[in-house]
Amino acid sequence: MSSYSFVSKDSIEYLNIEITTRCSVKCPMCPRTVFPQFLNSKLDMPVSLVNHLNFSDNLKKIYLTGANGDPIQHPNFHSFLRALKNTTKAQLNINTHGSFRSKNWWENTLNILSKTDHIIFSIDGLEDTNSIYRVHAHWRSIESAVKLSAQKLQTTWKFIIFKHNEHQISKAIHLAKSWGVAYFSLKRSDRWSEPYWPKDNVSDWMEHLRPSEDFVTKDYKDVEGPYSLKRKFNSVFNINLRTDSLPLYMQQMKVGETQVGN
Ligand SMILES: C[S@@+](CC[C@H](N)C(=O)[O-])C[C@H]1O[C@@H](n2cnc3c(N)ncnc32)[C@H](O)[C@@H]1O
Ligand code: SF4
Repeated sequence: MSSYSFVSKDSIEYLNIEITTRCSVKCPMCPRTVFPQFLNSKLDMPVSLVNHLNFSDNLKKIYLTGANGDPIQHPNFHSFLRALKNTTKAQLNINTHGSFRSKNWWENTLNILSKTDHIIFSIDGLEDTNSIYRVHAHWRSIESAVKLSAQKLQTTWKFIIFKHNEHQISKAIHLAKSWGVAYFSLKRSDRWSEPYWPKDNVSDWMEHLRPSEDFVTKDYKDVEGPYSLKRKFNSVFNINLRTDSLPLYMQQMKVGETQVGN
């Protein structure tokens, strides 16, 4: 007979909920793009489920990030947020490409959220490069969303480094600052190796996207292994535009560290 062990609800402090598998952006290394055959790309979590989740008081943070979709594309996103806010005091952290939603839609979103909630915008470059990886992303709607969000709550510009945007980091930092953004987080792509990336797709996209050798040094002997960013760039990587207390979960790179996180 098999036995199962369950995590007690009171021991859960951090929860990641995938509320939808929808996304209109097409990042070439996202599972929904790489393995479309394994995904129903129009699945939405019913809002009523929130009432059954029975969150513990120990829950500190809920991440609306997921792995295969973008939370703001849930058709009832506002109802979802309201249900969460009525059920738990945990901080909400929303990871999004930031595209396609109107000013009015964002104002409604921000009215539901609290000052202590957090929106992390995945913006991998500037206007001329962001949609090389974030295929179909819409710059104007991103800019408007980020500016509104930055006025009301904790806001991060999260930048994944690729060959086509590695030269734009300091410009992006300045732009983030001019938009009122409090946090700038750099992330290296961790998706260079099998089994994540099917062999027959590897060469073109990998070489197209991989940061240049001048920019990164290899950390491990394994050619497909993680990269570390060259030390000379570290001073610009730890960017915290308002305060020194960075949220730990963001694993942002501090000066002298090599890991850049989500
Ligand atoms: C599947 S996405 C879902 C959330 C949202 N759609 C977004 O992109 O921010 C989950 C996380 O994967 C990150 N991501 C996407 N492509 C990546 C890559 N090549 N390397 C590392 N992280 C990546 C996204 O930026 C996001 O933080
Ligand atoms: S925006 Fe997020 S969910 Fe959409 S394709 Fe890119 S990584 Fe995947």
